Amino acid sequence: MTNAEKREKIKERLLAAPNLSNRELARAVGCSHTSVAAMRRILEESGKLCHGDTTESNWLNHPLIKGGVIDLSAYNVKNLQALKTPGVLDKMMRENLTSPVYAQRKLRQEAKQARKNTPIGRVAENIKIFKADIHNGLPEVESESVTLLITDPPYQKSALSLYKSLGMVAGRVLREGGSLLCMTGSSHLPEVIQALQKNDRLKWHWLIAYHTPASAPMLEWKRVSPFVKYFLWFTKGEYRGDWQSDYIRAPGDKSGDKTYHVWGQNVAVQKTLIEKFSDPGELVLDCFLGGGSSAVAAAQLGTRRFLGTDIDPVCVRKSKQRVEETLTNNYE
Ligand SMILES: C[S@@+](CC[C@H](N)C(=O)[O-])C[C@H]1O[C@@H](n2cnc3c(N)ncnc32)[C@H](O)[C@@H]1O
Repeated sequence: MTNAEKREKIKERLLAAPNLSNRELARAVGCSHTSVAAMRRILEESGKLCHGDTTESNWLNHPLIKGGVIDLSAYNVKNLQALKTPGVLDKMMRENLTSPVYAQRKLRQEAKQARKNTPIGRVAENIKIFKADIHNGLPEVESESVTLLITDPPYQKSALSLYKSLGMVAGRVLREGGSLLCMTGSSHLPEVIQALQKNDRLKWHWLIAYHTPASAPMLEWKRVSPFVKYFLWFTKGEYRGDWQSDYIRAPGDKSGDKTYHVWGQNVAVQKTLIEKFSDPGELVLDCFLGGGSSAVAAAQLGTRRFLGTDIDPVCVRKSKQRVEETLTNNYE
């Protein structure tokens, strides 16, 4: 390591853990404690480090550190920063973990899981399904009330006007930062995206794919054997939600469940996305409900408010029945 590199390392560590002694930091970098002291002075004089600042020193009193159970000099800057996060040292002690970064990640995942699974009261009252034509704009749904609009309109070219109406509804009912996840086929993708973007409050965000282990029917006229399904992800305003993966694994070997609708989708995939894109108590909408796979997913989760609509009264009836059966099975 050159002297300049060594100085950079000392600086990094001092900024990450200023409360460690010069000797401890020197041991970690492999330099003399006077070099650390010299860098400390420079940083203090330039105002980057506060002299004698003890506001962050609580973590140094933790039994793992005081008792010398963990060797601070073995950690890199990222680990030192993680160590200072409230709860990380306790987590390491409780679960016998050696990596602060890993403990911090586990804490974040557990907090997220707890947030995602908060109960919201009687599930049946939170799931509403009714007949509606998307072209009428869904006046029953309050503006700015929906966090996630997850839906699956018909895919054929003659259905393009449905996407335009969907874009209008999404632009109105989504709250700021909310998401539209719209399934569609690949044949008319450019026109579908254009139709959805007719509403300038919707912003294109990303494409989410899921692999369907068993191929959907071969598309003779395109000479394509499809193994992947897509959700087009649009947002209203800036998306500030959780990080998302753009690949979802469809459990089982089916792309969808055709028992309740010829175009029925995979419930587990809908459930995964509802859980990822909304929090407990938030409102999820599907305005092309079909056989009700998204409604069943919401009923299984039991922690979201859900509105489902379809123009076809048979779909409405079947979906209601499926939700009732799901809830009965859940609570028996
Ligand atoms: C692809 S299917 C949805 C399948 C559903 N995802 C499932 O898992 O069963 C599309 C649905 O859109 C509905 N639909 C067609 N035109 C509509 C319109 N103008 N307004 C509301 N729904 C409509 C159809 O009745 C059909 O049930």
